[in-house]
Amino acid sequence: MRSFFLAGLAASSSVIGAAAHAGAHAHASSNSAYDYIIVGGGPSGIITAERLVEANKKVLLLERGYGPTVATGANDTLSWNNTLTPIDLPGLSADIGALPEWEEYICTDVAGYAACVLGGGVTVNYMVFVHPPDRDFNEGWPQGWKWDDVSAAADRLYARNPGTILPSSDGKRYDQGLYTVLSNFFSKLGWKSVDMITQPNEKDQVYSYPAWNIKNQVRAGPVRTYLPLTKGKSNFNLRMGTKVIRLLRSGSEVTGVEVENASGGLENITLADSGRVILSAGALSTPRILFNSGIGPSSQIEIAEESGVTVPPKSEWINLPVGVGVKDHPIFSIIVKTNGTYGLLDYDAIVNGTDTADIDLYGKGSGVLTEGKHRMIFFTKNDVDGQVRYYQGSCAPTGTDEVTITAYMTHGLTSSGVLGLNVDGDTVFDKSPYLQTAGDRAAATAFIQEMVNDLTDPSTGYKLETYTNVSAILGSQSPGMHYTTTAKLGTDDGRYGNGTSVVDLNTKVYGTDNLFVVDGSIHPDLPTGNIQATIMVVAEAAVARILALE
Ligand SMILES: Cc1cc2nc3c(=O)[nH]c(=O)nc-3n(C[C@H](O)[C@H](O)[C@H](O)COP(=O)(O)OP(=O)(O)OC[C@H]3O[C@@H](n4cnc5c(N)ncnc54)[C@H](O)[C@@H]3O)c2cc1C
Ligand SMILES: *[C@@H]1O[C@H](CO)[C@@H](O)[C@H](O)[C@H]1NC(C)=O
Ligand SMILES: *[C@@H]1O[C@H](CO)[C@@H](O)[C@H](O)[C@H]1NC(C)=O
Ligand SMILES: *[C@@H]1O[C@H](CO)[C@@H](O)[C@H](O)[C@H]1NC(C)=O
Ligand SMILES: *[C@@H]1O[C@H](CO)[C@@H](O)[C@H](O)[C@H]1NC(C)=O
Ligand SMILES: *[C@@H]1O[C@H](CO)[C@@H](O)[C@H](O)[C@H]1NC(C)=O
Ligand SMILES: *[C@@H]1O[C@H](CO)[C@@H](O)[C@H](O)[C@H]1NC(C)=O
Ligand SMILES: *[C@@H]1O[C@H](CO)[C@@H](O)[C@H](O)[C@H]1NC(C)=O
Ligand SMILES: *[C@@H]1O[C@H](CO)[C@@H](O)[C@H](O)[C@H]1NC(C)=O
Repeated sequence: MRSFFLAGLAASSSVIGAAAHAGAHAHASSNSAYDYIIVGGGPSGIITAERLVEANKKVLLLERGYGPTVATGANDTLSWNNTLTPIDLPGLSADIGALPEWEEYICTDVAGYAACVLGGGVTVNYMVFVHPPDRDFNEGWPQGWKWDDVSAAADRLYARNPGTILPSSDGKRYDQGLYTVLSNFFSKLGWKSVDMITQPNEKDQVYSYPAWNIKNQVRAGPVRTYLPLTKGKSNFNLRMGTKVIRLLRSGSEVTGVEVENASGGLENITLADSGRVILSAGALSTPRILFNSGIGPSSQIEIAEESGVTVPPKSEWINLPVGVGVKDHPIFSIIVKTNGTYGLLDYDAIVNGTDTADIDLYGKGSGVLTEGKHRMIFFTKNDVDGQVRYYQGSCAPTGTDEVTITAYMTHGLTSSGVLGLNVDGDTVFDKSPYLQTAGDRAAATAFIQEMVNDLTDPSTGYKLETYTNVSAILGSQSPGMHYTTTAKLGTDDGRYGNGTSVVDLNTKVYGTDNLFVVDGSIHPDLPTGNIQATIMVVAEAAVARILALE
């Protein structure tokens, strides 16, 4: 039973909602008044909630999904280890899309890919953990959010959730065929081998063993590295299976939230008199809550009303550019047949327990099952128009002697789109964020052309597969799933003139007294690599600023 395991996490803090999921009665504490209501139990929401609990605030964390670990109520354990779910096991992360958990966890009402489960995207992602380089903040963020301002927050995060390039407890690396082949290839090109954790600023013509969000041989992230620290705290409440529909407002003041509970009923949950609400529902879902609450472009608020939500009277609408400027990394797939000797793990045999060699080694904290999907990550940059753009290549085997390079265009890209709502209440792209500028298209083409030239040089013996020329690789473009900038942080108040920002430097929504956003939505710019570490650094920095406002 979920509720049995929950006792372990909850102790005297209360965890509500999961019991209802298991068919029992929930004890809704709808009318206790909270200092902070945090909407969304993804990485940002959990970090924010835990730090507020440490500061002795009375905190309610609301999560629409359920717990993915045994400690948070999951019961879908591996046949050979009743303390682990398939989600926990690093060795299964490469095949995560084929697991039944994927269908259960992935959101069905957003414009791209996000997860509606405790832990958010970090519960289902490929665990690539890129410590951000200083320049990501120095170039893309306003004063007050430069690297010098956030580096202490990064240190707090890394103390709890450091990431690793060497997860196996015996200090060995396993299944290194792909790494051997590609490191040979890149070193011949003159690229440099780096440790992407200790040398985060090295992002040009470099390659590294992958850094993964793994700790103690299991998937890490705030569900494991922050949430357990709330154990025994009576000022913390986690309520799962509870979807926030809209904010309850009295003019510029938020007084509570309206939620749809596990049985589909609507409830109001109220804030204490000087309480605050923090939205951490993710870059693709936080905008829906804002639109539903009369905050955003009026055209979107009108659609929210059409979708059946009770929006505030028009006189209370706050006209802010929510959703405008949404960004993501585009991915290009470069699939190469090489001459090395490597292949895929047999995921079925890991799930069904017949791969006893790897499973026995895992029981000792070692082996290939402690590793994630990729075997190498590389970084480079180019400049075709006076704008420097960065690229990340995440290299994983996808067949015998076949590597798929998931090549992201990252920091420096200039495209953005518009996120809106439809009448079903789904968030949608009114304008795509991908390759909207001539500069981005030219830079992507140049990057791919150079990769193709190097990979298909006769000296390599390699062959492109599936996408066999530059235009086919460009056409393989897919979402990077690192969405940002739907409620931008900045000093140019979006209510006025050409202002583009939705939240101020303290992450408070312009035009409100006590509403904050802490998640990917507020990032004004994209990082150089996969985003989750940056998301967590920003949450640590943001919650400190919010507390300092009191
Ligand atoms: C498939 C996939 C693979 C990825 N791979 C990587 C990777 O390898 N490395 C990397 O760095 N990044 C990766 N990412 C990106 C990374 O996981 C996300 O950027 C990150 O999780 C975003 O964090 P967040 O806190 O902003 O929001 P989210 O993680 O989206 O969390 C939002 C939370 O809010 C909850 N929620 C939403 N709406 C409501 C509501 N109305 N009421 C209550 N709760 C609500 C959701 O259930 C969720 O728990 C991947 C993402 C996906 C989807
Ligand atoms: C496992 O949890 C699900 C809900 O997620 C529940 O329906 C099922 O009955 C549980 N199974 C057991 C064996 O407890
Ligand atoms: C959901 O809300 C409805 C209406 O307020 C209430 O009757 C019901 O008991 C609640 N269900 C749960 C599981 O909290
Ligand atoms: C929640 O509060 C709003 C505003 O006061 C009210 O209109 C609505 O009926 C309330 N909903 C519930 C379920 O009590
Ligand atoms: C692959 O080919 C390169 C270039 O011909 C060669 O240097 C390398 O040794 C080969 N590797 C294997 C594993 O055969
Ligand atoms: C387990 O999976 C392996 C690999 O697919 C398969 O050969 C084997 O028959 C399966 N065994 C069981 C007991 O399902
Ligand atoms: C099961 O998982 C736990 C937690 O990671 C680990 O300590 C234990 O060694 C594992 N047992 C086996 C048999 O893999
Ligand atoms: C590139 O590859 C695609 C798909 O294989 C093919 O249709 C197209 O003709 C090729 N273009 C060039 C310029 O070779
Ligand atoms: C807003 O932008 C327009 C068009 O770019 C410009 O003409 C105008 O001066 C700007 N207004 C303000 C207040 O910056």
